[in-house]
Amino acid sequence: MKNDPLTPYGNRPMVTPIVSAVNYQYTSFEVLRQITEGEIDGYTYHRDDNPTVRTVERKIAQLEGAEDCVISTTGMAAATMTFLTFLQKGDHLVTFHDIYGGNYKLSLILEKFGVEITWLDALNYRDVKEHIKENTKMIFCESPSNPLIKVIDIEYLCKQADRVNALLVVDNTFATPYHQKPLAAGADLVIHSATKALGGHNDLMAGAIACSKKEYYDKLWFTRQAIGTTLDAFSASLLERGLKTFEIRAQKMSENAMQIAQFLNKHPKIKKVYYPGLETDIGHKAAIKQMKNGFGGMLAFDVGETENEAKIFVERLNKIIHAVSLGCTETLVCLPVLTTMLYMPLERRTSFGVKPNTVRLSAGIGNIQELLDDLGQALL
Ligand SMILES: Cc1ncc(COP(=O)(O)O)c(C=O)c1O
Repeated sequence: MKNDPLTPYGNRPMVTPIVSAVNYQYTSFEVLRQITEGEIDGYTYHRDDNPTVRTVERKIAQLEGAEDCVISTTGMAAATMTFLTFLQKGDHLVTFHDIYGGNYKLSLILEKFGVEITWLDALNYRDVKEHIKENTKMIFCESPSNPLIKVIDIEYLCKQADRVNALLVVDNTFATPYHQKPLAAGADLVIHSATKALGGHNDLMAGAIACSKKEYYDKLWFTRQAIGTTLDAFSASLLERGLKTFEIRAQKMSENAMQIAQFLNKHPKIKKVYYPGLETDIGHKAAIKQMKNGFGGMLAFDVGETENEAKIFVERLNKIIHAVSLGCTETLVCLPVLTTMLYMPLERRTSFGVKPNTVRLSAGIGNIQELLDDLGQALL
């Protein structure tokens, strides 16, 4: 406790101080040596590490049941760091069409650097078995997926990855650690856009990589230090504040999402609802197996038959907000083909089930009756 850089005041402050210092005065060459060689916890330069950031990393590691965690400036920075650290020219990556559109953009850059990529439909995730090769070094998935909330059996993917010693990386942004712990199911690394439910208030950007082994933490730390994607202390402090209410928000988002999914499922103007909490959903069985405390706050649905019908519905909403992002206190909707998937070629966007009239909804923590009433009036 005496050397804890966060307790310089005798008693420990209730809120982690925002250490805005970029660099630190060396107290002696001996202390510098001890820090550099990892004998003591200490700080020299913010790009390497920062005490406010480090506190948050330990909290996220605990939430995910991880050995340690590296946080970064954004969720995309976390994905970039993961690919840069664990893939190189000639390696093979297996992934799924149903992933955040930003990862699709990132895949174009990976290909430029000689990484070979196989894309599969998340609904047919068992096909992975036929696509694993000797040079497969990583399987990367989201479960539930963005935007069609498809569920992938993480234990199954883990078995396939183990056949060739590949890493299994799971983006747990949609599920959150309140509902799903991929590391316990055998994944090696868990990625988060902490901009979403972990932060939860639309006021910060951050990413996180929870690591099952210290060795992965060390490698990712090296990459972050090298490329400069360390989160600033102020955002780390906001993220820590978000984490204090994370579980209670995740619970409420999930309860609201379930009620919204049930309401929409019975509505004549809704052609299909995608939510693993519904017994009729194709991912329900796998979700029961690997998710707990409910099925998360994300769902999708097809409004009428055309993009125009979906647009009219969205524009009629009063309480529910038309915006991208997710996992925050407000309830948000967007049309994935016009937003998160915009960069993909049109035929690719729709080839794995997303339609021009598909709406993605992120349930917030608001009053459920007000949300149902808003949906009801917009569907009149
Ligand atoms: C599932 C998922 N992963 C990663 C990201 C990227 O996160 P960020 O916007 O924090 O870079 C997003 C963004 O929406 C996402 O939905």
